[in-house]
Amino acid sequence: MDSNALLKVLGCAACAVAVALPARVVYYLYFSPLAKIPGPKLYAFSDIPFLYYLSQGTWPWRLKELHEQYGPVVRFTHRDVSFIGGDSWKTIYGHKTGGDRNFDKCNYAVPPAFSGVPHVINAGDADHKRMRKLLSHAFSDKALRGQEDIMSGHTDLLIKRLAVFAENGVAADMAQWFTYTTFDIIGHLAFGEPFGCLESGGYHPWVAMLFDLLRIATLGQVFRRHWYLTPLAAVVLPRRIIQSIQNHFKLSREIALRRLKTGNTERPDFISHILRHNDEKGMSEGEIIENAYIIIPAGSETTATLLSGAMFLLTTNPEAYAKLVHEIRSSFASEDDITLTRVGELPYLRAVLEEALRMYPPVPAGLSRRAPKGGQFVEGYWIPENTIVSVPHLTTYSSEEFWHDPAKFAPERWMGDERYAGDKRHLHQPFSYGPRNCLGISLAYAEMKFVLTRVLWNFDAELMPECRNWKDQKIFTLWDKGPLNVKLAAVKRS
Ligand code: HEM
Repeated sequence: MDSNALLKVLGCAACAVAVALPARVVYYLYFSPLAKIPGPKLYAFSDIPFLYYLSQGTWPWRLKELHEQYGPVVRFTHRDVSFIGGDSWKTIYGHKTGGDRNFDKCNYAVPPAFSGVPHVINAGDADHKRMRKLLSHAFSDKALRGQEDIMSGHTDLLIKRLAVFAENGVAADMAQWFTYTTFDIIGHLAFGEPFGCLESGGYHPWVAMLFDLLRIATLGQVFRRHWYLTPLAAVVLPRRIIQSIQNHFKLSREIALRRLKTGNTERPDFISHILRHNDEKGMSEGEIIENAYIIIPAGSETTATLLSGAMFLLTTNPEAYAKLVHEIRSSFASEDDITLTRVGELPYLRAVLEEALRMYPPVPAGLSRRAPKGGQFVEGYWIPENTIVSVPHLTTYSSEEFWHDPAKFAPERWMGDERYAGDKRHLHQPFSYGPRNCLGISLAYAEMKFVLTRVLWNFDAELMPECRNWKDQKIFTLWDKGPLNVKLAAVKRS
């Protein structure tokens, strides 16, 4: 092409942009079906402000400001709407009956499948139903009872390791030790063998790689929303991380195949339950591997985050700490009496976890869904098909509109205290809502109660001054936790 022709092409392109851009702005501001939904004008025609805050790890805080300014329904891009009140959980995520259609998962935020076959979190409705049915055997109450020894064995090792810190008078980074524990427990349950993090006092390469992966999952959303930027991914994402992701899946496959090859259905791990019930409507080998893989981050980083948050909130709230310690230390005659069943009977412990889930939800952001074909009303607004909608956990749980004194850590609000009678507890859904809510709820509560009880039975805990602001963190899909240094002292019993 000669230089004149090139100039003509560039000129035409510039004219097209000069006409299209203002037309786009005018359309989204005044004529789009979403134009009536409250929200800042600058955000109405582009997702650049949203993606900017997202990539900075500050989007949930910005969204909180927007809801405070514009109310419970906010349009924050030309096609995303956030809801924090009323029946929004039920309408968007709930079971659908009659003529109502599902709001499908939106692939911008869902983790991709590595081998091309789906896993339970990103599968379409039909595959999801089949997989969830099979996986639910591994999460039944009966299965949980069989998993107690695995949980107890790893917690014994945690206590042994923490005792060394207490003896030496050195603070332990509890965020790290909780993470070692939950990865070893869930790794053992999903792959049939622990990662050995507690044994070595460090991250197994698998776990270290996973953290790289989670970190870039947020950035991945930019490329999933703007596919034409994909060639830039290779420049923006360091080669080390791309390599690390590939290694990650390879390693997971090897571990899962090793377990599958044994064909053993008597071990108390998830794979035994899957193999025992796997019929022609069950899962292929590839699907079992994908699911074992996705269950590790779903079940370990989440519980470790909540345990860390609960430890921080307790050690910065002496009254609640004293009440919980009293409940734990007066409920058991000896450490051997601490069982999954017995920890389930401690009311203050349950309230502490509920309040920690409210103030520090392990999945803090909104999980995006697409409005169904034909569109639907949500909270009185007409939402056209394919609009992306969500209920953000952190923003909903910290709103003064729904909670009395939301910044106060008050387990009493979950125990019938009159002061909190007006709280909108139905909005508290940290495990999500409806047919795709968390499959591991019972396991998560059992594990969190058991581990926290054993730690506080054995040790007095004091937060180190450098961690007073630990909760002021960024959020890249999950919380970007720093060290949570806690000084432990062994409890003296006569
Ligand atoms: C405090 C701990 C936990 C929290 C807050 C939590 C939260 C959640 C949330 C919000 C979802 C919905 C995700 C989505 O819609 O994309 C989810 C799904 C899921 N969680 Fe959890 N989770 C926790 C612990 C666990 C544990 C311990 C396991 C199992 C080991 C687990 C297994 C799963 C699975 C398999 C799903 C997918 C369910 C489906 O799509 O049908 N989670 N979890």
